[in-house]
Amino acid sequence: MEMIKTKTYDEMSKKGCSLLINKMQHLENPVLGLATGSTPEGLYAELIKKNQQHEVSFQNVSTFNLDEYVGLEKTDPNSYRYYMNQKLFKHIDIDSKNAHVPNGMAGDLQKECRDYEQLIREAKGADVQILGLGLNGHIGFNEPGTPFSSRTHVVELDESTRKANARFFTSINHVPTKAVTMGIETIMESKSIILFVSGEGKAEAVARLMNGDVSEAFPASILQKHEHVTIIGDEAALGKV
Ligand code: GLP
Repeated sequence: MEMIKTKTYDEMSKKGCSLLINKMQHLENPVLGLATGSTPEGLYAELIKKNQQHEVSFQNVSTFNLDEYVGLEKTDPNSYRYYMNQKLFKHIDIDSKNAHVPNGMAGDLQKECRDYEQLIREAKGADVQILGLGLNGHIGFNEPGTPFSSRTHVVELDESTRKANARFFTSINHVPTKAVTMGIETIMESKSIILFVSGEGKAEAVARLMNGDVSEAFPASILQKHEHVTIIGDEAALGKV
């Protein structure tokens, strides 16, 4: 695993953005895996800037988001579709039909999972997967105990994850209990991965991801087995590795 340490969150976002653009420039039709959460917000703001300055185009790009809550409309400010529209898609020149987020409102969620996998397969997987890290080691919404062999599936969210994400909702009771997430095997099939981490709160989790046992009890530990992972983070998050 390659590690890039920056002084600040801002620098992490800028360096991460250059790294991503550099990878995109070597590809004719880049396929990106995208994440939500607070951590990649700075990256998306940078990508918007670079797109507006014509340094990168998304016209030939397809994207696949990692996950989506079950039961939130795409117009709900807490849905990940809404987040992506507001924080990236509506500001860049991507063709909206190429910007995929699982549909957490699908009547048949199992079919939604199968269809999402199929779309990813047809795109031949992500060239670059952007990841954040949950405090309990989750990637996407793959909670501890998720088989490493999992594909896109419906998950029951951990209480700790619901608590961590409650800051975006009026109360924890409004945080959905389920989500659709790309599976761990789906994520591992990406050709390269850039994991963003920021803040002291993540330091313990980053250290366990890099130096702990590879175990389903800590999903992100599987990244030790991927050949092209870059972890980019600020000093606070990388303080314990
Ligand atoms: C959320 C998301 C993940 C994200 C993680 C960390 O629950 N499902 O995709 O990477 O938690 O979020 P944050 O960046 O806000 O710390």
